Amino acid sequence: MPLTVDKGLGNTIAADTNLSFIDGTNGVLEYVGYDIDSLARNATFEETTWLLWNGRLPNTHELAAFAKELQSEYAVDARMLDVVRAIPRTAAPMDALRTLVSALAHFDLEADEQTPAANKRKSLRLLAKTATLVALFDRYRKGKSFVAPDATLSLAGNFLWMLTGARATPSMERALDVCLVLHADHGLNASTFAARVTIATQSDMYSAATTAVGTLKGPLHGGANQEVMEMLLEIGDLSKVDAYIASKLARKERIMGFGHRVYKAYDPRATYLKTFAKQVAADTGNLPLYEMTRRIEEIVLAQPNIIEKGIFPNVDFYSATTYYSLGLDLDLFTCMFAASRMAGWTGHCIEQLAANKLVRPHAEYTGPHGLSYLPIGQRPDGETSSTCPSVKTAMSVLV
Ligand SMILES: CC(C)(COP(=O)(O)OP(=O)(O)OC[C@H]1O[C@@H](n2cnc3c(N)ncnc32)[C@H](O)[C@@H]1OP(=O)(O)O)[C@@H](O)C(=O)NCCC(=O)NCCS
Repeated sequence: MPLTVDKGLGNTIAADTNLSFIDGTNGVLEYVGYDIDSLARNATFEETTWLLWNGRLPNTHELAAFAKELQSEYAVDARMLDVVRAIPRTAAPMDALRTLVSALAHFDLEADEQTPAANKRKSLRLLAKTATLVALFDRYRKGKSFVAPDATLSLAGNFLWMLTGARATPSMERALDVCLVLHADHGLNASTFAARVTIATQSDMYSAATTAVGTLKGPLHGGANQEVMEMLLEIGDLSKVDAYIASKLARKERIMGFGHRVYKAYDPRATYLKTFAKQVAADTGNLPLYEMTRRIEEIVLAQPNIIEKGIFPNVDFYSATTYYSLGLDLDLFTCMFAASRMAGWTGHCIEQLAANKLVRPHAEYTGPHGLSYLPIGQRPDGETSSTCPSVKTAMSVLV
């Protein structure tokens, strides 16, 4: 087959998937055929994960059994607490999470067992323990004692319990659960692709999950919800929104939480979250923040060209105030994204292994050819030694 150039792979289909379907033009996201809006309104995160992993909705018995299995895996090996304590308190939570997810492998005797059944068990462990690790690290960095998991709670409820040491109200638990449902899977996004590339080498689930956490960390992928919240706090008050946004737009700066590579219509994950975020903000005394987001949306969408360019609020725009209203520190927002997307990452890994092919694209070589090897003592010094402009540019960037 002739090779084609597609930097960013935006025009390449690199995998088949049964997990989620995206129609960016019409603003549609489905998990296994179910519209995301109906899942966010009706399903729990546990139910959603079961759907993604099994290709259909569970019955009552299946869901109860799955929740129980998940709950039995909330706890981590006691030695993982030492790993948490070995990380500097000043580390960014996403960096800590990358280390901790990787470390889980050392305490799983099945880490390198590649059977479908073992990989399913490891998916369950990874999903159950990721939220636990986020809570453990946050308490440790704040000098607070660890809170043991409560295996009677949902994943969302247990996370809030382990984070705060207090029982979450049903509406707080539900708010976090909705965010988890909305972030659980999203086609072949960068971190999911990274996970599939890793597992395709027949590496292991923990390595794939670690790759994915590292990929999600980037501000072009998982970090936008934190930036939305930073923007809202910087604006500070509803009365200052108009001037702030006008000056950003005049400087042609991007408004965080708007636009999406795939969606050129309203992000379907934001539709329900928009109304839901209002309720959460009202319940927690954060309505002024929510009102700022609504005003920002009004101003941005009233700009000439903005709708033509397909720029609408994305999921991060409304999840930011929801996480903030739940009392999460800003740098935990992306960790919650990871805790949810672990369902998708692991589901994709299992799907990849079921019809595996090593992922190995080509690079177009842009360097020189046919150079003569000179013994080291005969080479000119410094800058003049490179005959390749791209190497010189790269070196000057490195310096
Ligand atoms: C998500 C994002 C990277 C997608 O970018 P993309 O599909 O590559 O689109 P482009 O960067 O090519 O932008 C297309 C046009 O829309 C404009 N645009 C894109 N996002 C914008 C935003 N948030 N605010 C204002 N203008 C925006 C660009 O300036 C560009 O305008 P131009 O054609 O006049 O130059 C981009 O929309 C963005 O940076 N958004 C803010 C960060 C964010 O919320 N990310 C979370 C995504 S879930």
